[in-house]
Amino acid sequence: MDGIVLLKDDHKLVERLFKEFEKTRDTASPGEKKTLVKSILRELVTHAFIEETIFYPAARAEVPQTDDHVLESVEEHHVVAWLLSELQDLDPSDETFDAKTTVLIENVRHHVEEEEKEWFPQVRKALGRNRLVELGEQMSAAKSHAPADPLALRSAKS
Ligand SMILES: [Fe+2]
Ligand SMILES: [Fe+2]
Repeated sequence: MDGIVLLKDDHKLVERLFKEFEKTRDTASPGEKKTLVKSILRELVTHAFIEETIFYPAARAEVPQTDDHVLESVEEHHVVAWLLSELQDLDPSDETFDAKTTVLIENVRHHVEEEEKEWFPQVRKALGRNRLVELGEQMSAAKSHAPADPLALRSAKS
């Protein structure tokens, strides 16, 4: 699969989970909320992992004119990783839980918009279909090696 299509599919999946959180935040039980946020955490950490280990380094090396996008994206991942690490240990009945999750969602939406609207089209043009399929295969295989802990992401330390 084309790597950019794979990443956009991931974006769509997390957006569905975000919508689910927004729809149920006032009615869900703490247990349901915890389960949903756990799914969000797992999807985001896996996605950030394959971007940081495969897609971002490839873009950096092969499309150097988008360097600023790579650097900004890593900083955005950094913020998301730390928010996720706080949410991981937070009781869903804590008064900060919904607020932190909402800020997480806002951050990720902004980040996804920049990736999809500004950066990915330039990468697509520069890399071409065959290279993107190669990256897609690598990323798809790398998903099973993703860490569970958001602070194990490279961006958490950047
Ligand atoms: Fe990203
Ligand atoms: Fe992404």
